[in-house]
Amino acid sequence: MEKKTFYDVLRDRHSCRAFLSREIPADMLIQVLEDAQLSPSNCNTQPWNVHIVSGLKQQELSEKLIAAAEQECFSPDFSFDIGDFHGRYKERQFAQGKIYYEALGVVREDTEGRKQANILNYRFYNAPHVAFLFMPSTGDNVRIAGDIGMYAQTFLLSLTDHGLAGVPQTVLGFFADVVREHLGISDDFKLLFGISFGYEDGDAVANTIRMERDAIGENVTFHQ
Ligand SMILES: Cc1cc2nc3c(=O)[nH]c(=O)nc-3n(C[C@H](O)[C@H](O)[C@H](O)COP(=O)(O)O)c2cc1C
Repeated sequence: MEKKTFYDVLRDRHSCRAFLSREIPADMLIQVLEDAQLSPSNCNTQPWNVHIVSGLKQQELSEKLIAAAEQECFSPDFSFDIGDFHGRYKERQFAQGKIYYEALGVVREDTEGRKQANILNYRFYNAPHVAFLFMPSTGDNVRIAGDIGMYAQTFLLSLTDHGLAGVPQTVLGFFADVVREHLGISDDFKLLFGISFGYEDGDAVANTIRMERDAIGENVTFHQ
């Protein structure tokens, strides 16, 4: 198979929300992790602490996360309120929800349908692997979180380059205590988000959506 160009990798990457159950070969997973390891970081701290969960351990964690979500037993390390978005940011967030739920055939008033769609997050969208991105709590954590973002993007692009797919998931960070307890991780490490990943289910309607980007003039200002 011909190697994808950087141009194609960037444009092929998208958030995948339905995976095949097929596992990634171990050597390919190591290649993806070696790519992600090349990410830049503030002062070269390389602060990402990555926990990859697969198999039975992942299934058990899924059940615990669904139970915690149903009981609304939240334990996020970092706050998140969707109501904080405003203006153009709110519009973009709203557009993503609309296009996704419309693709699934879930209407706005269908509270149960939306709840079930949300629970798919905790089933890792059927992905056979999930990476939890932990970080050592450091100062106000803003710079470390930026480094984790750098790592995540390299990881996601490498997945695409290898014919794989992933989806970053803030909601997996809503139950940080559950994840820490299940994986035996010290409280010194804070959970920013997770990435479910594997082979994309090309027949799934959830994977037909593509989020457009604004023209660069919306985000970039030139000065001279
Ligand atoms: C840090 C981060 C957290 C995200 N959290 C979730 C999530 O919890 N659940 C989900 O389905 N998608 C999540 N997404 C995916 C975004 O909705 C997606 O990146 C955005 O709509 C743009 O679409 P694209 O990734 O397909 O280009 C997250 C993305 C990022 C970068």
